Amino acid sequence: MTTAGTTAGTTALITNIGSLVTNDPSAGDGPLGLLKNAAVVIEGERIAWVGPAAGAPAADTAYDADGRAVIPGFVDSHSHLVFAGDRTEEFNARMSGRPYSAGGIRTTVAATRAATDADLEANLTRYLREALRQGTTTFETKSGYGLTVEDEARALRIASAHTDEVTYLGAHIVPPDYADDPAAYVALVTGDMLEACAPHARWIDVFCEKGAFDGDQARTILTAGKARGLHPRIHANQLSYGPGVQLAVELDAASADHCTHLTDEDVDALANSQTVATLLPGAEFSTRAEWPNARRLLDAGATVALSTDCNPGSSFTSSVPFCIALAVRDMGMTPDEAVWSATAGGAAALRRGDVGRVAPGAYADLALLDAPSHVHLAYRPGVPLVSGVWRRGVREA
Ligand code: NIG
Ligand code: FE
Repeated sequence: MTTAGTTAGTTALITNIGSLVTNDPSAGDGPLGLLKNAAVVIEGERIAWVGPAAGAPAADTAYDADGRAVIPGFVDSHSHLVFAGDRTEEFNARMSGRPYSAGGIRTTVAATRAATDADLEANLTRYLREALRQGTTTFETKSGYGLTVEDEARALRIASAHTDEVTYLGAHIVPPDYADDPAAYVALVTGDMLEACAPHARWIDVFCEKGAFDGDQARTILTAGKARGLHPRIHANQLSYGPGVQLAVELDAASADHCTHLTDEDVDALANSQTVATLLPGAEFSTRAEWPNARRLLDAGATVALSTDCNPGSSFTSSVPFCIALAVRDMGMTPDEAVWSATAGGAAALRRGDVGRVAPGAYADLALLDAPSHVHLAYRPGVPLVSGVWRRGVREA
């Protein structure tokens, strides 16, 4: 059999899939819609057919999965990949006992401002390739390391050449040049910077935290973004309890991200809303912080997404499989829940129905695992199990 992959109008069959996660409960067992001995037909960049291998229609090319597992490509709904510079020393010091604070972001801001467009783009594409090899086929990324009108707009322009899921995070921290006048910085973020950035972004985000932006500032910024056609998502309740989650729900944010420190009222608010709780265990791992309690959110009925938060400060991993393993080991998730959250959950956090599932009409974004089951993503932590990736119908890795 030849390597399956499509060009416009052609079809490709992936057959002899030992275990297929569809995330389509009508197609198979449980919330994962699990199908054994399955096949998938791709037409162009979309899924055309899903079902038992024995009943698969013919296609132009075919690939034999040899009994291995296939899952939807990961949807990494939270990353910060437009940056320059290095914070190895900060990590090293932290692992020697110094606590994490929002202030380290300034180091990356200085390096990012000094970088050329070509440097920023090369760095971004390097981490995108790295993520793709590990099964990520959809990713969101943010500005937030420029913090001037020009530097934020160029970060978003560079990101938008690589993904539709681009987030304006001018409100990451108050930059040193505005340290004496945070109100003037909020005015910039909601004024000239918003005007320059909105054409390149779909989302607006705020780091709502002590040392960054308080609840009133965050409301002002997100409301201005909404009025300019951007949809909110929020860095909420990461380092401490605070107003972020309640604000996310109030503003119908697509996602409240981090959710490490939640009151019962915060959990209830998320469970009774469309706002997804996006958990980012790479950040707790890399800052030796308390884990978010996924079990509490799931038991309350909240929708949970799992993402990497890939950034040079608090979570320098592009590996969704690593985050799945952490979530299962330390956050109370079952392997099934963690895989759902890293695929369909990420899609929900981006309000997308065309990714994160394997069903006719969805994008043909698939990860082939060198394992008989998706459970191995948690069972075999740190092992590079992703052995094939199709993105928009094209075999990429
Ligand atoms: O998601 N919380 C704010 N932003 C990032 C950290 C960025 C950095 O330290 O550079 C985060 O953890
Ligand atoms: Fe983040």
